[in-house]
Amino acid sequence: MSTPGTTNALASTDIAAELRKVDKHWTPRVIGRVNDQYVKVAKLLGEFVWHAHENEDEMFLVISGRLRIQLPDDQEVVLTPGQFYVVPRGVQHNPIAEEEVEIVLIETVTTTHTGDVVGDRTVPIEDQLGDTSASR
Ligand code: NI
Repeated sequence: MSTPGTTNALASTDIAAELRKVDKHWTPRVIGRVNDQYVKVAKLLGEFVWHAHENEDEMFLVISGRLRIQLPDDQEVVLTPGQFYVVPRGVQHNPIAEEEVEIVLIETVTTTHTGDVVGDRTVPIEDQLGDTSASR
């Protein structure tokens, strides 16, 4: 069942294509949303800054390159393509990209944005289900 204005219902999102649109390092770009989490892509180069997210876990999934994430007590996690790590809420961390690294980030949508984040890619669940069942 197709409804006018829902042509994005079957549009997939290509991570590599979204990354090609990123031209600044350390500037995440929102490419999707899952419930109350944003899916973002970003390019990293160099050292970021020590910080923590008091109430939010943060997931780093490496697409290309090699990412070091420094953690407290001289610990660190090293991620290569296909690997991810979730920095627990409240934990200090410092990402370091000695070469350019491309990542997917999954981060909580802040409550102030709730209800205000419907964009071109947002498809009502009934449309998704309708298109899926129609194609079977
Ligand atoms: Ni962080």
